[in-house]
Amino acid sequence: MKRALQQPSYPDDKELRAVLAQLSRLPPLVSSWEVESLKSQLAEAVRGGRFLLQGGDCSETFEDCEPTQIAAKLKILLQMSLVLVHGSRQRVIRVGRFAGQYAKPRSSETEMRDGISLPVYRGDLVNRPGFSKAERIPDPALLLRGYERSALTINFIRALIDGGFADLHHPEYWNMQFVHNSPLAGEYTHMVDSIRESLQFMETVTGTSLTDMNRVDFFTSHEGLLLHYEQAQTRQVPRRVGWYDLCAHFPWIGNRTRALNGAHVEFFRGIQNPVALKIGAPITPDEVVSLCQILNPHNEPGKLTLVHRFGADEIEATFPPIIKAVQEAGQSVLWCCDPMHKNTEITASGVKTRRFEKILAELEKAFLILRDHNAHLGGVHFELTGENVTECIGGASGVTEADLGRDYRTPVDPRLNGEQALEMAFLLARLMARNRNKENTITNCSGQKEKLASR
Ligand code: PEP
Ligand code: CO
Repeated sequence: MKRALQQPSYPDDKELRAVLAQLSRLPPLVSSWEVESLKSQLAEAVRGGRFLLQGGDCSETFEDCEPTQIAAKLKILLQMSLVLVHGSRQRVIRVGRFAGQYAKPRSSETEMRDGISLPVYRGDLVNRPGFSKAERIPDPALLLRGYERSALTINFIRALIDGGFADLHHPEYWNMQFVHNSPLAGEYTHMVDSIRESLQFMETVTGTSLTDMNRVDFFTSHEGLLLHYEQAQTRQVPRRVGWYDLCAHFPWIGNRTRALNGAHVEFFRGIQNPVALKIGAPITPDEVVSLCQILNPHNEPGKLTLVHRFGADEIEATFPPIIKAVQEAGQSVLWCCDPMHKNTEITASGVKTRRFEKILAELEKAFLILRDHNAHLGGVHFELTGENVTECIGGASGVTEADLGRDYRTPVDPRLNGEQALEMAFLLARLMARNRNKENTITNCSGQKEKLASR
């Protein structure tokens, strides 16, 4: 039997089994048809024809499962994707870190406060954040509550999209109040106007209505951490071969649970979904190659996305040998940069934060390093929210360290707020365009242009 890291220990095994039995009878949250469609879109991204935009909360909470927050999250991802499509002339695959991102890996089993030790909070799917024994004991009923919240979230997202929320004839619907006050308001409004004019022009010329423009695809993802939960939703479907994990389109393996001989890799190698693997220190090029061979044995393009998270200061030393090893092994992967997780710092007053310029710097370096290796960056993975929180420092709207106390809400990792996320999309679109034109400079952390050392 393979070892499963980061699993809660439930006090009552019978209760857990009963919940899992219920979960495995309930309808799936996504369909195998959607999963296959995403896989073929990811295969196009491997060939350079699409770009993956993945984003959302570090950790969703049951409390936040309400319409304003869900709509705001959907809006910011739609706005970012519009900016990327417009700026880079590339089709975008939109994937939310939502409708199931409820379980978190933690660095210790217990938390100590005032001499009292309790199980650590592992996300709403497992236990509660409050510091009491009753709240911290893992409760299997929360698996059902999480499944239901995921279903409510995905149902609302599907209804919004079907109802025309993403209609390109009316991108002004996607506007959020705070964007009007942002330094980017002008640039965004200008882009929206130009899209509307282009649509009107096409419709006038062709004499038809471009009705497809009212629909976009939207996919869900979360860290497939709790193997009991994932397994209970893993099914065979009529007329298809193999097993589908139907609680999300695109589950990922976290950096802490990617052990070669561990239970997570064993579970993920058995599913038909496209899967993402987070890779970060400490990892060797050989380990990455072995993981690719296990998770994508038929070397199917689109099946495996490597989400690299090395940090702006480490990426130049750590990433190239990994790219070379994967290329030498002939493995097909989509490279996707998570510029969040290794650019985390603690301020002098003890607040966990991330700096906008470090996040951007890692992205810039990822583009250039991959290009130097005749490969390409095919996607990005952000922690963000549509709300106007103050969790990350920097960006044009000028969130400073002193602002962090004003509206810091995340229970785990700091997220880009709506303005920072939109600005990041504008800068990313510029990077994509510049990358196509093969320019060779990056902006360093002090905002100066610097030539990237050739490798
Ligand atoms: C995360 O994505 O929130 C996370 C825990 O990331 P990683 O596995 O890369 O540390
Ligand atoms: Co996180």
